[in-house]
Amino acid sequence: MSFNKEIERRRTFGIISHPDAGKTTLTEKLLLFGGAIQVAGAVKSNKIKKGATSDFMEIERQRGISVATSVMGFEYKGFKVNILDTPGHQDFAEDTYRTLSAVDSVIIVIDAAKGVEAQTRKLMEVCRMRKTPVIVFINKMDRPALDPFELLDDVEKELEIEVCPLSWPISNGPDFRGVFNIFEQKLSLFTSGDKQRLGGSIEVKDIFSGEADEYIQPHAENLKEELELASAGYPAFDRERYLSASLAPVFFGSALNNFGVRELLDCFLEIAPHPGDTEALERTVNSKEDQFTGFVFKIHANMDPNHRDRLAFVKICSGVFERNKAYLHSRSGKNIKFASPTAFMAEKKSIVDKAYPGDIVGLHDTGTFKIGDTLTEGEMLHYKGVPSFSPEFFRYVENADPLKFKQLAKGLDHLTDEGVAQLFVNQANGRKIIGTVGPLQFDVIQFRLKHEYGALCRYEPLQLFKACWMESFSKSQLEDFKLRKLHNMAYDKRGRDVFLAESAYALSMAQEKFPDIKFHFISEY
Ligand code: G4P
Repeated sequence: MSFNKEIERRRTFGIISHPDAGKTTLTEKLLLFGGAIQVAGAVKSNKIKKGATSDFMEIERQRGISVATSVMGFEYKGFKVNILDTPGHQDFAEDTYRTLSAVDSVIIVIDAAKGVEAQTRKLMEVCRMRKTPVIVFINKMDRPALDPFELLDDVEKELEIEVCPLSWPISNGPDFRGVFNIFEQKLSLFTSGDKQRLGGSIEVKDIFSGEADEYIQPHAENLKEELELASAGYPAFDRERYLSASLAPVFFGSALNNFGVRELLDCFLEIAPHPGDTEALERTVNSKEDQFTGFVFKIHANMDPNHRDRLAFVKICSGVFERNKAYLHSRSGKNIKFASPTAFMAEKKSIVDKAYPGDIVGLHDTGTFKIGDTLTEGEMLHYKGVPSFSPEFFRYVENADPLKFKQLAKGLDHLTDEGVAQLFVNQANGRKIIGTVGPLQFDVIQFRLKHEYGALCRYEPLQLFKACWMESFSKSQLEDFKLRKLHNMAYDKRGRDVFLAESAYALSMAQEKFPDIKFHFISEY
């Protein structure tokens, strides 16, 4: 198969949702279609259960499992599908943000009884920033649901994107009868009894002619009315607008009952983008360029403390990646060969000789890589890749064993390279500060420092509102600010200035006094 064809048949995407909306269930159903797994329940083990919110040992165990399911690749109808898994637990949201830098599109799962929830809103911000095309799947239609118009309005308002329904539900809850597939003009009927569709789907020439009424009574009139209202109220599907992330197609269904999932997958494969352009600091790189380039979006530490090697996940952006070929690691300027790059197909990992744009390869790493690093065939490129968001929780970290000072420094360095948390150094007193998305990570860090690095740490409380990256046209104002606020100034891991605002009030005061400085809650602006 030609190089271009290989690219065009690839679909690399992530599924995001608020916990419990059905992401795991949908992922599993997609894998079943792709023949990547044989039985339902196979993916469940990747999920950090609700009951385990404070049990970080459980999370350690899950970490091992999640290596296997970090990337789930499978072949389906001539397409090579790569699903990039994102952790369900919100304390690990930072991991999800990074994974989103490696996808070409996203499917958002929403619970039909709840509408858009907090976590989804935040993840959508990342998609919007990167202009990632999104498709919305409104799940759990077999349960009492909100009105479809209400749901669509909610998506439009909360996710700040225009929507266009490509399927329409026929009632909901115990009364749920199926969906009308607007995209293909087909009626798909649902019976919850055998958890399968009733006799497949029925092609409809004109739903308004009444030809399909007998299958959906007593809801036929209501459906027609709603379809009329929907076609007047929402724009028609426009692939260009979807690809430029200004229009989100919406599907309804029930992942648990496998209803509406095939329709979603088939439409997704047809309309979703193949790998295209990736922005580097120096230039835009197109996937069809023949020289290999890629970047690290995730690093996974080995769980075995005797083997400290890590697995770096590289998204291939252009060209063909080949085993045993020397590639330039642009941050260090070193050339590196990889003898056993790993490909991810279904639940298996295997050594791969070649991989194409859109694919993810796992590279064994003994401490060379940081998140965001670029590999090329020689060109000095730096992919913009992976932004950091302001952490929500901060603590000073102190050495609790004077003999293990070096181990602590190394452990903190590695764990923060891996993206477990962010490390800041206070510019006034040199104290190290750890910032996390959720409180759970502090336990994870303490545990891993002890078990993987033999280091002991203790935390001291630090009440902060946000870490703010700064930019200003006025150099003098910036210098003045840094001097006055020295005690609240820190360096991030890349040596950039960060203002640690103690409260929203302190930040707004700073903004008032220094109007020429822009404060950002994100490291890429
Ligand atoms: P998540 O990954 O987004 O957190 O959600 P997950 O798929 O684990 O689904 C959360 C719960 O919702 C699960 O129930 C799952 O079975 C259920 N669910 C998913 N899709 C549907 C659907 O279409 N209809 C209905 N009625 N339920 C759905 P659970 O009881 O929490 O877990 P389990 O005991 O079933 O594993």
